[in-house]
Amino acid sequence: MKVVAIDGPAGSGKSTVARELAKRLGLDYLDTGAMYRAVAFAALRNGVDPADADLVARLARDISIDLREDGTVVVDGADATIEIRGPEVTRAVSIVAANSAVREELRVRQREWAAAHRGGVIEGRDIGTVVFPDADLKVYLDARPEIRASRRSQEVTELSYETVAADLARRDALDQGRSDSPLRIAPDALVVDTSEMSVNEIVHLLLEKLG
Ligand code: DC
Repeated sequence: MKVVAIDGPAGSGKSTVARELAKRLGLDYLDTGAMYRAVAFAALRNGVDPADADLVARLARDISIDLREDGTVVVDGADATIEIRGPEVTRAVSIVAANSAVREELRVRQREWAAAHRGGVIEGRDIGTVVFPDADLKVYLDARPEIRASRRSQEVTELSYETVAADLARRDALDQGRSDSPLRIAPDALVVDTSEMSVNEIVHLLLEKLG
């Protein structure tokens, strides 16, 4: 089973790089952020306060999350692909991701996914540090904050650059500051600053590292 763990803050290039690397390696790709977003989506949809730790934890255990090959995300039978990227879910997801019982449940699902798919390229915040400490390659992608904000604001065209930059800074602080599995660089991770690199260059570098 070959696992490539890709961690880093929002807008560092994780998704694009992970998807392309997976294709080149013939492995499947898992976006664990989409799983946390799916739980936040389910809470909002069921009228559950995202800050209600016990209720959200129960939801996390009960819901089905189907991450399809084509990028479609289906939560309890409902297509949530667009909504999980929307402003409401994005606002609610940090508190859901700080919930230890939710993390425990999603960690189990991520390990089961990898076993069922014979490994994969898996991206998130704690993949190399906590979920797959024995990954074949651990990568930490980063980029200057203004570059990450401008990448994100190109994806989310309905929000201004300032709003996106402020939201990114808020989520960085929450992801790095939470007590359970905060965003950290694993000691044995390859750290890549993607600010001035193309996707091709990054993928090439990672393929070289994998040998
Ligand atoms: O990568 P993203 O922006 O879609 O992630 C959504 C949120 O989920 C983000 O605020 C951090 C959190 N997350 C996490 O805590 N652990 C992961 N492995 C992946 C995402």
